Amino acid sequence: MPLSGLAIAVLLLISMASRARPCTEQEKSSLFHFITGLSWDGGLAMSSWRNNGTAAADCCSWEGITCGGGGVVVTEVSLPGRGLQGPISPALGDLAGLRRLNLSHNSLSGELPLERLLKSSSPTPSGLVAIDVSFNRLEGELRELRSSNSGWLLQVLNISSNRFTGEFPSATWQAMGDLVVLNASNNSIHGRMPSSFCISSSTSFAVLDLRYNQFSGRIPVSLGNCSSLRVLRAGHNRFSGTLPDELFNASSLEHLSLPNNGLHGQLDGARIVNLRNLAHLDLGGNGLDGKIPDSIGELRRLEVLRLGHNNMSGELPPTLSNCTNLMTVDLKNNYFSGELTRIEFSALTNRKTLDLLFNGITGMIPESIFSCSNLSALRLADNRLHGQISPGIVNLKSLVFLSLAFNNFANITNTLHVLKDCKNLTILLTNSNYKGEAMPEDEAIEGFQNLRILSLARCSLSGKIPLWLSKLKNLNVLFLQNNQLSGPIPAWIKSLKSLFHLDISYNKLAGEIPTALMEMPMLTAENTAIHLDQSIFLLIVYRGTSFEYRVISGFPNMLNLGYNNFTGVIPKEIGQLKSLSILNLSSNSLSGEIPVQLCSLKNLQVLDLSNNLLTSAIPSDLNKLHFLSTINVSNNDLEGPIPRGGQFSTFTNSSFGGNPKLCGNAIDRPCGSAEAPLVSTLTTEQKDRRIAFAIAFCAFFGVGVLYDQIVMSKYFS
Ligand SMILES: *[C@@H]1O[C@H](CO)[C@@H](O)[C@H](O)[C@H]1NC(C)=O
Ligand SMILES: *[C@@H]1O[C@H](CO)[C@@H](O)[C@H](O)[C@H]1NC(C)=O
Ligand SMILES: *[C@@H]1O[C@H](CO)[C@@H](O)[C@H](O)[C@H]1NC(C)=O
Ligand SMILES: *[C@@H]1O[C@H](CO)[C@@H](O)[C@H](O)[C@H]1NC(C)=O
Ligand SMILES: *[C@@H]1O[C@H](CO)[C@@H](O)[C@H](O)[C@H]1NC(C)=O
Ligand SMILES: *[C@@H]1O[C@H](CO)[C@@H](O)[C@H](O)[C@H]1NC(C)=O
Ligand SMILES: *[C@@H]1O[C@H](CO)[C@@H](O)[C@H](O)[C@H]1NC(C)=O
Ligand SMILES: *[C@@H]1O[C@H](CO)[C@@H](O)[C@H](O)[C@H]1NC(C)=O
Ligand SMILES: *[C@@H]1O[C@H](CO)[C@@H](O)[C@H](O)[C@H]1NC(C)=O
Ligand SMILES: *[C@@H]1O[C@H](CO)[C@@H](O)[C@H](O)[C@H]1NC(C)=O
Ligand SMILES: *[C@@H]1O[C@H](CO)[C@@H](O)[C@H](O)[C@H]1NC(C)=O
Ligand SMILES: *[C@@H]1O[C@H](CO)[C@@H](O)[C@H](O)[C@H]1NC(C)=O
Repeated sequence: MPLSGLAIAVLLLISMASRARPCTEQEKSSLFHFITGLSWDGGLAMSSWRNNGTAAADCCSWEGITCGGGGVVVTEVSLPGRGLQGPISPALGDLAGLRRLNLSHNSLSGELPLERLLKSSSPTPSGLVAIDVSFNRLEGELRELRSSNSGWLLQVLNISSNRFTGEFPSATWQAMGDLVVLNASNNSIHGRMPSSFCISSSTSFAVLDLRYNQFSGRIPVSLGNCSSLRVLRAGHNRFSGTLPDELFNASSLEHLSLPNNGLHGQLDGARIVNLRNLAHLDLGGNGLDGKIPDSIGELRRLEVLRLGHNNMSGELPPTLSNCTNLMTVDLKNNYFSGELTRIEFSALTNRKTLDLLFNGITGMIPESIFSCSNLSALRLADNRLHGQISPGIVNLKSLVFLSLAFNNFANITNTLHVLKDCKNLTILLTNSNYKGEAMPEDEAIEGFQNLRILSLARCSLSGKIPLWLSKLKNLNVLFLQNNQLSGPIPAWIKSLKSLFHLDISYNKLAGEIPTALMEMPMLTAENTAIHLDQSIFLLIVYRGTSFEYRVISGFPNMLNLGYNNFTGVIPKEIGQLKSLSILNLSSNSLSGEIPVQLCSLKNLQVLDLSNNLLTSAIPSDLNKLHFLSTINVSNNDLEGPIPRGGQFSTFTNSSFGGNPKLCGNAIDRPCGSAEAPLVSTLTTEQKDRRIAFAIAFCAFFGVGVLYDQIVMSKYFS
């Protein structure tokens, strides 16, 4: 015991002694050049870096500095996320022992002095092993390094998320024999994919990330020589041509991801089996055609398969069920056909999402799919499936997202009775099915504890707005448009305390607009977003051609009652709907005045009262609604002057036409002397916001139905 105690004491003394030895003046000076060259040093000079001559004179004890070589040589400068601004001083290259430099997540600007940092003139092998300058504002080109020195030791270079431009120098990378990782994602680099990494057969090059740049040309064949390449990510560029055969020689590949390029050709079944380690295959958003090869079943490690948005066709291979590790399958927007019963899903217990949106799949939903107990998102929308939903679906205990839209499913009563027991179901899109059936009014439809979005639109359902809906206390978004629903809006509507987006347009609903609708808790609250679940949807919800929703709060606060048979006046209580941003009451038989209370809906962006029987003047204070981007009061019997100023300065004839007694410049009918006074004009910011919304809105109502699909030009052309 005393002996080992002594040993520890001695060790301590030695280490204290070595720590006390200051780093060289040369090193201090380099570091000072770096820090004083910055325009903002994040407070470093004020802290440990300051006390130059005193106790902390040893720069090895400065914040972010690590020394090696017995504690006397600066080997690492690690200052990520320090708020540093200004250029990276080439003087850092004078730190002879520096091995690792991490300056990521700062606001550094200017060029990267790679030549100096790598000390390419140094005769002996030395220099940086890892450079991470990701997430800065560095710019310029990565020029060819002058010296052909082969002593570079660089293994990791992360320059991602900067503003680098130009082409990649090729000779430089050829000489980087030790390079393992090159991460240049999220810049503006163009030209050919650098590919000279694997010239020597003993290469250790393993990770290439070039996502989000402007690279073009073909995928280089020489990548096939990269025997250690594990990760190739080059999505969101402009690569073209086919996948070269040689690429499949890189048999260490675990992650091959080239989405959103211009690749074409087919997946070669004979070659793809060479990639036995493949876990992640993403070729979505290209122009690939042909089938998924049967040999895909031999990729036993496959976890993620993304081939969406291509031009692929044929039947899905039954061998897919041999990929038992599959978690995510995205095959949306292709021309796949055939029946799902060909695939034995029961082996795929790891599967979490299956997206077959917009293909030509036929038949019924196979029972085996319900044994994928981890399945949480299933989208079968826009296919040619039919039949009734099997009660077996309740076995999908994790099911959160289910879209059955645009198929030929039958028996809505059955669908609802079965799905009500899916306790975690949050999004149910089953629009455009059940053609001509009756809306079930059965009170036993109870459950749906977590349902937040429900679409039963476009089903031509007859009947009333059913009482069972009133039990959906978590419902945020309800689509019932384009049915044949009749009768009044029930007074219980206000008990839907989470609802903020309601579309009941294009039905045969009648009666007066109930004041209950003006008491909807989420629409009367000042700030509703805070009550919403912020989690991201497992699959993006598409609406029409231009709307994508990833979170619930992405949906606007909306009441759409258009194209029904509502009569009576617009209730004054409408002024209570403080958070409403879209109000559409068009094409009904509403009469009386436009209530002045509308002027207190400060968040209103779209107001459509067209094609009704409204009379009297347009309330002049509507021009104080600063976010109003669209107004349509055409085809009524309004009279008097159109309000002037504010938002009204840009509304045109189309907003007001068909009201013979209205006057104002917008409709080329001067009011004479009795014109309304000019009120406040818009700030530029308000205008910009308004225009942006107007553009979005046109698309929104131009299509107006929940397609849950991207309608691609190929579909309509
Ligand atoms: C610290 O020392 C460096 C040179 O070693 C000198 O250039 C710098 O001015 C000194 N800074 C302070 C704050 O004393
Ligand atoms: C640099 O630091 C950041 C933040 O700590 C870290 O996430 C990153 O992995 C580091 N880079 C390297 C190459 O170690
Ligand atoms: C930069 O890339 C390297 C290698 O891929 C990685 O280790 C590092 O964590 C990345 N840096 C950041 C900030 O993510
Ligand atoms: C790309 O870089 C910008 C800043 O340069 C950053 O804000 C953005 O999050 C990055 N995008 C990705 C996908 O990393
Ligand atoms: C590249 O760097 C970015 C951020 O710097 C990181 O998110 C990404 O995972 C890295 N890529 C690879 C393949 O490591
Ligand atoms: C791949 O490596 C072999 C042998 O090292 C070499 O002959 C061949 O030219 C290389 N191919 C490419 C495309 O670089
Ligand atoms: C690489 O792929 C090509 C074309 O597929 C093939 O002819 C060649 O033999 C492969 N080379 C090696 C080393 O596997
Ligand atoms: C997509 O495939 C179809 C046949 O399935 C073909 O007629 C069409 O030209 C292809 N489109 C593109 C863009 O490759
Ligand atoms: C799955 O793999 C086994 C063993 O390799 C094979 O016998 C079987 O035919 C494969 N199943 C399918 C559906 O391809
Ligand atoms: C259902 O949702 C709850 C709450 O989000 C979660 O805790 C639970 O794990 C989910 N159940 C399954 C089977 O995924
Ligand atoms: C529809 O479903 C209900 C409830 O599951 C069932 O009672 C009824 O027989 C089904 N109707 C048809 C036509 O299959
Ligand atoms: C609207 O209601 C009126 C009277 O109640 C009726 O005559 C008319 O047919 C209804 N219109 C529609 C489209 O249902």
